[in-house]
Amino acid sequence: MFLAFTGFEIHSSYHFFGFEKAVMYHRVAAYLLMGLIAFAVFWHFTTGEWRHYIPTLHNLKSQLAFYLKGIFQGGEHPFQKNIKRKLNPLQIITYLGFKLFLIPITVLSGVYYLFYKNLDGSLFPFLVDIGIEPIALLHTMGAFFLLSFLVVHVYMTTTGLRPTSNIRAMITGYEDLEEEQ
Ligand code: HEM
Repeated sequence: MFLAFTGFEIHSSYHFFGFEKAVMYHRVAAYLLMGLIAFAVFWHFTTGEWRHYIPTLHNLKSQLAFYLKGIFQGGEHPFQKNIKRKLNPLQIITYLGFKLFLIPITVLSGVYYLFYKNLDGSLFPFLVDIGIEPIALLHTMGAFFLLSFLVVHVYMTTTGLRPTSNIRAMITGYEDLEEEQ
């Protein structure tokens, strides 16, 4: 959220820190985010949690129908999470896209944006030829998608057992589940 806040100031959407400070804060936060991503990748593989993201078409239709209709009519959730399967099929696809496309596109375009002035043309002729404009567009597009993701994601957090139970799970790392049959 801080990257979005400073990023859109760099983009001239508003004035808050002042351009130079916004750039500096954005850069520091970007390095912190990359550190966090390195830990997250390490964690996914060492704990085996990456298995939760193997996509499946099983129950995808009923999950979609639930979010579009059932959820507004008090319908039963078609997916019961358990320790082995924490994510419903739609969450899997969304988070996989988030982790494999949206985040890499935003981070890699950001890294290019960080270093493009120092790129050695003889070593990276292709990269230098691209120029900064399309990369800046890509980065901004990533930022808009991330913001949209945030809005939908925050809305979805309210659809748990109680409106705050998903947020609680995010903070504590634990979630109360209804007892399985
Ligand atoms: C590791 C991740 C990131 C890196 C390395 C990065 C890097 C950069 C850099 C270098 C700039 C240009 C300003 C400057 O020269 O310092 C920039 C601009 C920007 N960043 Fe990021 N950023 C990252 C993540 C994000 C995220 C997560 C968002 C929003 C969700 C974001 C939104 C923006 C926006 C909107 C701009 C202005 C783009 C423009 O108008 O051309 N950035 N970023």
